[in-house]
Amino acid sequence: MTTTPLDRLRAATRAWHDALESTAFATAMLSGTLPLDRYVGQLAAYREALAALEGELSRATSPCVTHVWSPDLAKLPFIERDLKYFRQSGVNPPPQARPAGRAFAEEIRRTAAADPDALLGFLYVMEGSTLGALLLHRYVSEAYRLTVPYGLAYYGSGDRTRWASFTTRMNEALMNDAWLNDALLNEDTHARVLAAADRAYHHTASIAEALAPPTRATARTPSSPPA
Ligand code: HEM
Repeated sequence: MTTTPLDRLRAATRAWHDALESTAFATAMLSGTLPLDRYVGQLAAYREALAALEGELSRATSPCVTHVWSPDLAKLPFIERDLKYFRQSGVNPPPQARPAGRAFAEEIRRTAAADPDALLGFLYVMEGSTLGALLLHRYVSEAYRLTVPYGLAYYGSGDRTRWASFTTRMNEALMNDAWLNDALLNEDTHARVLAAADRAYHHTASIAEALAPPTRATARTPSSPPA
């Protein structure tokens, strides 16, 4: 059986996925102990990245990107709906995730200027993460007693049919010599998409780290002397 570009992306980034599933942020989310503002903080940081990514993908003209990107992949409206709901509920994102969100957005814009095809690596990770969010959705709604869709639009936005059509288009785009004019470019483009996926995981790990739940030690204000 031929190994598709998506099979290779999945295999090459699996270690990252395993690491993200075991962050203090993810563990607290799965155990229902993640403070609500940390969840909102993740949404706010992802909003920065998705605004940059979806803006750049919509403007890109490269055959690879235009073959894969379509407006039904847009997630920004979902995240903005959630952030509006929490704003109106008086829950604000903590400031500490903002730098990591901005760094992710800046890297996306730099990549769009230098190598638009590589944006597909960022898209793979962000689109894929909504698959896992379908599983996490239940934990989030129980932990914060949220009623669908209030505060859950982004975590509920994963869609297997859309994922299947996305992966088909990604494989077509990354295997199509006609657009890439020769086989060698194919390998090179794949390597650049993989490098971008690696960077996307790096940035989402930085966001999770910045939003790690306070431990007993950090829960105490650092300024107070030990008891
Ligand atoms: C507790 C945290 C997480 C859990 C439990 C989780 C779980 C999952 C699950 C169940 C899938 C679907 C596998 C399948 O049926 O095909 C998945 C796919 C994926 N997740 Fe996660 N996930 C988590 C966090 C993340 C994060 C933070 C990211 C990146 C931002 C991420 C990126 C992805 C990607 C890219 C895929 C698609 C992999 C592929 O099939 O190629 N996940 N995840």
